Amino acid sequence: MADSVINLTIDGVAVAVPPGTLLIEAAKQAGVLVPHYCYHPGLPVAGVCRMCLVHVEKQPKLAIACATQVAEGMVVNTTAAEAKAARQGVLEFLLINHPLDCPICDQAGECELQDFVFQEGRASTRYTEYPKRYNPVEDFGPDVLYVPNRCILCTRCVRFMEDVAQEPVLNVSERGDRAFIGIHPESRLDHPWAGNGGLMRGLPRFPSIELIRAVSSPQM
Ligand code: SF4
Ligand code: FES
Repeated sequence: MADSVINLTIDGVAVAVPPGTLLIEAAKQAGVLVPHYCYHPGLPVAGVCRMCLVHVEKQPKLAIACATQVAEGMVVNTTAAEAKAARQGVLEFLLINHPLDCPICDQAGECELQDFVFQEGRASTRYTEYPKRYNPVEDFGPDVLYVPNRCILCTRCVRFMEDVAQEPVLNVSERGDRAFIGIHPESRLDHPWAGNGGLMRGLPRFPSIELIRAVSSPQM
């Protein structure tokens, strides 16, 4: 008979969770919030942001906590130097193009980029030779303006529209550093849920963050 609980330790705290639990959820039980951007418990796992890298003893490489299931006897360390360095690297890449004009941003103070930059200790990027990329704001629909400069391509909005709203009008267009969130050329983002979480046209200059809110929940 399969074990009904899996025992492991996360940052020295013993937890017992059902088989199949993801490390990021098990960590919550240990009182540890693993930094993350693309993961949301209500959406399919994408594993695209790499912000949730953690060290798992006896594993040759760091693991993404959002897509790794618990195993009996696992010893997970979220504060290991390698994990911290990897997460700082992710932030450094995000800060290549993400603006840091926080005083003019509505989201300042409630921003997970700010929070994790502070927590992980990577406040700037070394890629300062070129100006930050600038893509114009796009009108996606009655309630949503897309501001690509503030989008970190977590793809939550894409997955939300596809899997929750069942209206797959958004996509990731282009690749690599040219990637952005695109909308089907013949569609509008006018689903009633597109404005969840207080997204209002004309108010925010920062709908990318508002879109995050739209798919966020209190347990985040
Ligand atoms: S618009 Fe927001 S939710 Fe969508 S990918 Fe960009 S940061 Fe993520
Ligand atoms: S939260 Fe794990 S890869 Fe994005």
